[in-house]
Amino acid sequence: MTYDVDRLRARVPALAYGTAFFDGPGGTQVPDIVVSAMAATMLAGMSNRGAVTEAERRADDVTLAARAAGADLVNGEPAGIVFGRSMTALTFDLARTLAQDWGPGDEVIVTRLDHDGNVRPWVTWAERMGATVRWAPFDPQSGVLAADDVTALLSDRTKVVAVTGASNLLGTRPDIASIGAAVSGTQALFFVDGVHLTPHAPVDMHACHADFLICSPYKFLGPHLGMLAASPALLETLHPDKLKPATDAVPERFELGTLPYELLAGVTAAIDMLADLVPGDEVELSRRDRIVRSMTALEEYESALHARLRAGLESVPGIELFSHAPLRTPTELFRIAGVDSADVYAQLAERGINAPAGSFYALEPAEWIGLGKPGAVRVGLAPYSNDEDVERLITALREIAPG
Ligand SMILES: Cc1ncc(COP(=O)(O)O)c(C=O)c1O
Repeated sequence: MTYDVDRLRARVPALAYGTAFFDGPGGTQVPDIVVSAMAATMLAGMSNRGAVTEAERRADDVTLAARAAGADLVNGEPAGIVFGRSMTALTFDLARTLAQDWGPGDEVIVTRLDHDGNVRPWVTWAERMGATVRWAPFDPQSGVLAADDVTALLSDRTKVVAVTGASNLLGTRPDIASIGAAVSGTQALFFVDGVHLTPHAPVDMHACHADFLICSPYKFLGPHLGMLAASPALLETLHPDKLKPATDAVPERFELGTLPYELLAGVTAAIDMLADLVPGDEVELSRRDRIVRSMTALEEYESALHARLRAGLESVPGIELFSHAPLRTPTELFRIAGVDSADVYAQLAERGINAPAGSFYALEPAEWIGLGKPGAVRVGLAPYSNDEDVERLITALREIAPG
């Protein structure tokens, strides 16, 4: 099952302008098929969901199709898929909902490795309700977050354990399956931030015992929105703030206001695109099976390209690399001695190479490893990244490095 990067590249119009996009961890470029699906939805006639007019039925079909696709992506259930504006908005909404029964003595566990989207909502609501925040540390040298450092914090008062599937700053992939197995033996709920992991590997919310798994389609070739997965039975037990006339059905009760149907059509197309990254003619294979097959092949492809990227980066004079975890996504963070990271970013941009500098809202890890908010330069591979991109980046960095 080999992965054909050129096949995907031919479908991504933005690549035609010659830019090498290493900013995939911030958001990926979009295939034409995804854009066409969104345009087709809007051009066909669209109303609010309903069953009377064709336009209403179209909105209904688009919504149900996106739930089915989202469920296939994370091995969840369609009735447990909630769409919202972003991971951040969905997490804040969920934290507010869960916090309704938190009080003094209750605890939430967050990590120093996480993006602020999986930290601040929990910290904010814990503090507001008088609950205690327990922080899981990671090793700043290796970038590894040991499962034990999270599970050691569990107690019979733990309400939520919030851990990333992969760090958007360092790429580190904690052992979420082990953490989830330990959490599942307690009363606590396990919330996995899958935003940075989902674009790089097959994701299975059951295998990692996640009560909630969240991701953002704009990080995997799709449009800008967020997706939360949970079991419908769990969602039934929760009561988010909602408008009185809005339905109390699950998952709709978690989706405030009217859904962006055109974006949902884009989500379905993006997930179908992922499923088809490695095409096959086995008609009997389910979409879930095709997703697993394609994402496994993509992971292998990215891992080989990552090795070349890493070797190239190590050859740049004066480079200081911060990503060292043995298991990580193809994401690297670095500084070059004698050049401000903002200048590296700007000089790369002049050469048509997009690799921003910053801390990327991963404030806790950036501070934990001593970089603070200015952060460093981040390069991340995306499904359309190729050898030529990597060579261009390394050549450019060797020119920029003063050594
Ligand atoms: C790991 C991780 N979590 C959460 C987020 C926030 O996602 P959103 O922009 O959908 O709120 C990001 C965005 O960069 C991220 O990389």
